[in-house]
Amino acid sequence: MAEFRIRKAVESDLLEIIRLWKRNIKTINTASDIAELFYSFENYFFVAASTSASIEGKPIGFVGGAIREEHGHISGIAVDKEYRRNGLGKGLIKAVEQEFLTDAFEAVTLEVRKSNRDARGFYEKQGYKPSYTIRRYYADGEDAVVYEKRI
Ligand SMILES: CC(C)(COP(=O)(O)OP(=O)(O)OC[C@H]1O[C@@H](n2cnc3c(N)ncnc32)[C@H](O)[C@@H]1OP(=O)(O)O)[C@@H](O)C(=O)NCCC(=O)NCCS
Repeated sequence: MAEFRIRKAVESDLLEIIRLWKRNIKTINTASDIAELFYSFENYFFVAASTSASIEGKPIGFVGGAIREEHGHISGIAVDKEYRRNGLGKGLIKAVEQEFLTDAFEAVTLEVRKSNRDARGFYEKQGYKPSYTIRRYYADGEDAVVYEKRI
C-alpha cells in the first residue's frame, strides 16, 4: 500500500516532475518543454506526494494538465512503477478534472500511444472514450489514440 497525498505542484517540484515524466513516459519532450508546460499551466499540475516517513513529501506521481482550444487537456500523467495500482493515478486525474471544472472547462482530451495498454485501460476506467486515431503522431511513427471525456 502506498501512502500519499494529492496536492498542487509548486515550483520546487519541477525537477522531480521532469524526472517522473522522463522515467515513466516514452517521450521526446525535453526538460525545457516540460518546464515550459509547467510555467504556462502551473494551476493544472498536481503531484502525489509520499507520506511515508523515509521519503515524506517526495512526488511519486504527477499529472500535468493544460488548456487547448477551450477545453482541458492531459499533457502527461505518471506514477512510479512500484507505486502503481494504489489509486494514485485516479486521485491525480480527479484533481485536475476538478480544476478544469472549477474554471468551467467541461471537456477533457488526451492522446495516448496505441500500444500503451496500461494507460488505455486506466483512462477507460476513468470514463475516457476513444474518439479517433492520429496516424504517426509520435516521432517514432507510432499512432496516437485521442480520448475524450465530458466532466
Ligand atoms: C497510467 C498510470 C498513470 C495509472 O496510474 P496508477 O496509479 O497505477 O492507477 P490507479 O491505481 O489509480 O488505477 C485506477 C484504476 O485504473 C485501472 N487501471 C490502472 N492501471 C491499469 C492497467 N495497467 N490496465 C488496466 N486497467 C488499469 C484499474 O481499474 C484501476 O483500478 P484497480 O487498481 O482497482 O483495478 C500508470 O500506469 C503509469 O504511470 N503508466 C506509465 C506512464 C504512462 O503511460 N502515462 C500515460 C501516457 S501520458
